[in-house]
Amino acid sequence: MVSAQAVGADTDVQPEENDEEGNAQHMSARKSVLGLVAVSGAALLLSSCSTAAEPDNSDSTGTECNVGIAMPTRSLERWINDGEGLQALLEADGCTVDLQYADNKTDQQISQLQNMIANGAKILVIASIDGTLLGPVLEDAAAEGVVVIAYDRLINGSPNVDYYATFDNYSVGTLQGEFIEEQLDLANDAGPFNLEPFAGSPDDNNARYFFAGAWDVLLPYVQSGQLVVQSGKSPASNDEWASIGILEWKTATAQAEMENRLSSFYTDDKVDVVLSPNDSLAQGISAALAGNGYTPGVDWPIVTGQDGDKASVINILADMQSMTVWKDTRTLGARVHTMIQSIIAGEEVEVNDTTTYDNGVKVVPSFLITPEVVVKDQVQSKLIDSGFLKPADVGL
Ligand code: BGC
Repeated sequence: MVSAQAVGADTDVQPEENDEEGNAQHMSARKSVLGLVAVSGAALLLSSCSTAAEPDNSDSTGTECNVGIAMPTRSLERWINDGEGLQALLEADGCTVDLQYADNKTDQQISQLQNMIANGAKILVIASIDGTLLGPVLEDAAAEGVVVIAYDRLINGSPNVDYYATFDNYSVGTLQGEFIEEQLDLANDAGPFNLEPFAGSPDDNNARYFFAGAWDVLLPYVQSGQLVVQSGKSPASNDEWASIGILEWKTATAQAEMENRLSSFYTDDKVDVVLSPNDSLAQGISAALAGNGYTPGVDWPIVTGQDGDKASVINILADMQSMTVWKDTRTLGARVHTMIQSIIAGEEVEVNDTTTYDNGVKVVPSFLITPEVVVKDQVQSKLIDSGFLKPADVGL
């Protein structure tokens, strides 16, 4: 049995700016905009008829900074931070901003996007719910010359996605897989250990990447017998990830699933490690473990996570979650803010990946930010000292 103590993991990650700037490539926003205008015949972004009576949100080329931000849900802390953070940056520039949350309902998100277009948005920033269903509304956007930035989650199946800004999703999974590998000393043939893997929402394109990153590390140990999945819920390949996906990333669904697995497969045995792709699932998994008599610091399994949610950081401090892959949403907001400033100014938009994110129609020029692991003894130095969380948020 391995304790949940996660101290001493080697989690050093290079400061992201160096990596990002080093690999930076450039795409011409003006070219993209001109392309859209040529196709649609709508010269919205090149309007030169600003007048003194108009709000002060235009640059010298007359391009209006009118931005629609479509976020999936308020039920997860990170999206609130994402949306409000970006809104504040843009409003400080004098932009007009319409920020909407869609309660994880795609229909609602589509009508919000339609309203944004009708109300004159020139740029849409979209953290999609099910990106595959946005094709028609993005056609409307393209017809109006609107520039579309996929935020955090790629939008699949549409040519009308201009840029993608995200954390490196595959790396998130790699960090989780490597954490488990190191904590259990799997590379030195330790084992067997009982593993229960979970994956994210089947309609979220990111979930596939998170799982692939982790499973590329862990599957060889499942095949060697060092990791044993007693429930049998062990995808034979990365492509089968959705079979263990938790719809809408719901905490309660993850809890129910973990309770089922514990009561069906762990009556005589203990689970040693749970691969959880994010914090909302980890919270449900931890609740199930507590309800089944596992004791923090004694027989609590390794539990992974992602986001740095307050509730999960509290669990990390209480030895009920082993780590979180922290994605500083302020960095992502700042990156999208920079993209928008470039688009508005008619300048090149900086990207650092033009190969990874094929949405089925095109490879979307992307800016990938480096995520990093946080364990218990790094909560203060990484999450609190950076101002991401306040001490009182997590009982410190
Ligand atoms: C995001 C994660 C988040 C999850 C649930 C994913 O697309 O990248 O940060 O935990 O959605 O909202």
